[in-house]
Amino acid sequence: MAVDVLLGLQWGDEGKGKIVDVITSRYDIIARFQGGPNAGHTLVFDGIKHVTHTIPSGVFNESCLNIVGNGVVIDPVIFKREMDELAQFDLDLPTRLVISKKAHLILPTHRLLDAASEKAKGKAKIGSTLKGIAPTYMDKTGRNGLRVGDLVEKNFREKYDALVKKHAQILKYYNYEYELEPQETEWFEAIEALTSLDLIDSEYMINQALKKGKSVLAEGAQGTLLDIDFGSYPFVTSSNTISAGACTGLGIAPNTIGEVIGVFKAYCTRVGSGPFPTEQINEAGERMQKAGHEYGATTGRPRRCGWIDMPALKYTVMINGVTQLIMTKADVLTGFENIKICTHYLYKGEEIDSLPYQINEDLKPMYKEMKGWDADLTGLSSIDDIPQELDDYITYIENELHVPIVMVSVGPDRKETLHRKAATVA
Ligand code: GDP
Ligand code: IMO
Ligand code: MG
Repeated sequence: MAVDVLLGLQWGDEGKGKIVDVITSRYDIIARFQGGPNAGHTLVFDGIKHVTHTIPSGVFNESCLNIVGNGVVIDPVIFKREMDELAQFDLDLPTRLVISKKAHLILPTHRLLDAASEKAKGKAKIGSTLKGIAPTYMDKTGRNGLRVGDLVEKNFREKYDALVKKHAQILKYYNYEYELEPQETEWFEAIEALTSLDLIDSEYMINQALKKGKSVLAEGAQGTLLDIDFGSYPFVTSSNTISAGACTGLGIAPNTIGEVIGVFKAYCTRVGSGPFPTEQINEAGERMQKAGHEYGATTGRPRRCGWIDMPALKYTVMINGVTQLIMTKADVLTGFENIKICTHYLYKGEEIDSLPYQINEDLKPMYKEMKGWDADLTGLSSIDDIPQELDDYITYIENELHVPIVMVSVGPDRKETLHRKAATVA
């Protein structure tokens, strides 16, 4: 069997968690391949809202094994908190959740370094989630990092102290004041929860499962426009969020990839700093924010809102090799008289539909308008019942991206999902 990859096509928070939950029953294994507790994936079912950060979103399905892959960075404190929150649901985590020994550890000093770096940047700050993501990946690529497998080695404390000593020097350079002890105590206590799970060689486990005919879904975090190589650099995260990231983040070969499922919102949001060509700092943006409850699942920060950006989506569909599209939050656009779609940009006097190297004030989005709809989408159970205007909107996007939209989400609940017959697209 193949590994299907599900990922975000915008700046994160596209509703990946919800969709993973909807399709989890099709898979034997759900695996996270990058990112860490900067992610916040929301699942809603049976009247309960769950937010996962490091643990894959397949954890509620009893027949699914959840793997935290080598490409993920783990903060034991946040991981333990997630495990504790799940305890009330009687999930028998040790049989459902395993962790790659090669996943890197976020130390308390990584969090401090993240905060110190952001503070030093002042107005130019990235708007990081302050979870220590960038410093941890820096130590990984700088070959200084500590990995989950190191936790059970005899000399772990020695390695830890050596790295913290290095971090202390950098924090001194930043002139950053901090108190480490309470955070360190909590961190070491949390390690026990992590090591109570099976620590595995996930590359062997996944490849052997594939050989046995098992099906795997790789769950992306963040979004393609936050990718370290192809996102709006430097306002990005520190990992490869794209489909290729699933290969390096899980240890699978490119020819094992099956479907690439791209999730996008019917509009667009971004949390943190950085360019956002179609952002609406006006009534329309405020309306999307209110109707879509656009506040970060990890930090609670308000998300910036704007219209859908087709050149950006064309780019992210291309980079990922998307084979199926899923549109979320269509219900949020209900009630808009007209819906705007950015079809092109005007850039230095020229009309373009590609993303230039620099996304700055020289880039002016150009819009086409489509008629909106008024009908309430909540409670719909068939795609055949959606208003004509929404159908036209879906068909337009599908034809522009040359990839079928196979699902439309019309509410946060698992049930509020409309499946679409495989449409033929040009
Ligand atoms: P993720 O990071 O991609 O998993 O997305 P988040 O969970 O951070 O943000 C998506 C938010 O939108 C969450 O609050 C979801 O419960 C909610 N959501 C997902 N799909 C829909 C939808 O179709 N309609 C509405 N109104 N909310 C949705
Ligand atoms: P999910 O998986 C939205 C953003 C941050 C910041 C930038 C860098 O829930 O879609 P980092 O903490 O990674 O150094 O922050 O990336 N960011 C996200 N935005 N959704 C996410 O994850 C994000 N993870 C990071 O806001 O702008
Ligand atoms: Mg999120």
